[in-house]
Amino acid sequence: MMTDPMAARFDRLREHVTAEFRRRSPRSAAAVAAASAVMPGGDTRTTTYFEPYPLFMQHGAGCRMTDLDGRTYLDFLGNYTSLIHGHAHPAIIAAVTDQLQRGTAYGSPHEAQTQLAALLCERLPSLERVRFCNSGTEATLHAIRAAKAYTGRPKILKMEGGYHGSHDAADISVSPSMVQAGSAHAPVSVPDSPGLFAGVVTDVLVAPFNDLDATVAIIEAHAADLAAVILEPVLGSAGVIPATQAYLQGLREVTTRTGVLLIFDEVVTLRLDVGGVQARLGVTPDLTAMGKIIGGGFPIGAFGGRQDVMAQFDPRAHRLHQGGTYNGNAISMRAGCVALEWLPAAAISKLNSQGDVLRGRLNKVLRTLGVAGHVGGVGSLLQMHLQIEQPVRNYRDAQASPRATQELLHLALLNRGLFAAARGEYALSTPMQTSDLDEAVDCFRAALTEIAELLPPAAKTVT
Ligand SMILES: Cc1ncc(COP(=O)(O)O)c(C=O)c1O
Repeated sequence: MMTDPMAARFDRLREHVTAEFRRRSPRSAAAVAAASAVMPGGDTRTTTYFEPYPLFMQHGAGCRMTDLDGRTYLDFLGNYTSLIHGHAHPAIIAAVTDQLQRGTAYGSPHEAQTQLAALLCERLPSLERVRFCNSGTEATLHAIRAAKAYTGRPKILKMEGGYHGSHDAADISVSPSMVQAGSAHAPVSVPDSPGLFAGVVTDVLVAPFNDLDATVAIIEAHAADLAAVILEPVLGSAGVIPATQAYLQGLREVTTRTGVLLIFDEVVTLRLDVGGVQARLGVTPDLTAMGKIIGGGFPIGAFGGRQDVMAQFDPRAHRLHQGGTYNGNAISMRAGCVALEWLPAAAISKLNSQGDVLRGRLNKVLRTLGVAGHVGGVGSLLQMHLQIEQPVRNYRDAQASPRATQELLHLALLNRGLFAAARGEYALSTPMQTSDLDEAVDCFRAALTEIAELLPPAAKTVT
């Protein structure tokens, strides 16, 4: 029987890299086995799982984490981009320690909520009013509900490949298979999960990111029923793909003309500018969803925007109910205030410049090795696109990078002490120094060299 030589090479290399991973992490293997007896898959978050098993961490400081086997990793995940100041930032610890002595949640408003709300409203001029919740998932859920209630329209439009958390409306066409996804200009709404309410497939329309003509056509065709367009100004889990300014501006114009609310999900992208991508590109949404960095490492979400839309949450209006036992809890509020105070414009632009330099250096590594691929993303968010040499504009473009090779690179990086998302996304944090980035480049060079035989040669000549 004939075997595909490339598949055989891949299997051999995966076996080798996996064996090294297992050799380095026996305590994590045992911890996963014990955890699996009480939690499905041994963890409590789907995203954190990877093959053969995730590492159990026991300690974090600055931009490094240490696992149960005592191995230390440079952390380029930062709890999925949220730990912009790394682990255990001294000023955040001081604020939280002080707050712990005074109670964590009062079931009553307190001034730290006002302080964090004021900081956010100052940073994002589109926020006339804001509310807190405990996750980005809740933030997008409430923003969508507010838009539906305000307009009296039943549907929303999201982007193919867009990620807005794990509620029903968000779980449409996040990572649809190309077999089900329909045409590029008019994608089909594909549920990402069983168990969603049946109506969600008809009520959540899907558009191709960065394709203005196609998106405008869908919005115009459904305007009478459409409450909101929701999108990440940089498509995140689909491959850190920035929207063009023209696309966002075009969406602003068509939504204004048709009475549809424009919601930016800046849960991740708020790290890219003091006022998020909306400030960077000068496009003002009606509502914004936030999370991650604004909690200083503690659970948080926030949503806000136009005063007339947010007024629906005023209890005196008796219109929209927003519960949440830990909404605005004192720990997340205090930590969030410090995290933002430590993130002035200068700190953000330094982090973005470090990201640009690292991106350039990693692209040079790829070119020197002569393998096809490039590192994209924007500012302090980077994305490895193995085997793709064209610019990546949307979810479908990013599918050309083989997931299995990306995952092998992830394991090869872990074996060299670099911790990141299996999907090839890397986030910088403020504790990172030039020496840390030098170390990262060395890890990438070695890991890419190890898997280079699986990658096709670059089409372009080495410069
Ligand atoms: C763009 C975006 N929106 C929403 C969410 C959901 O946030 P959370 O995980 O806090 O529910 C995420 C999480 O990764 C995200 O990346």
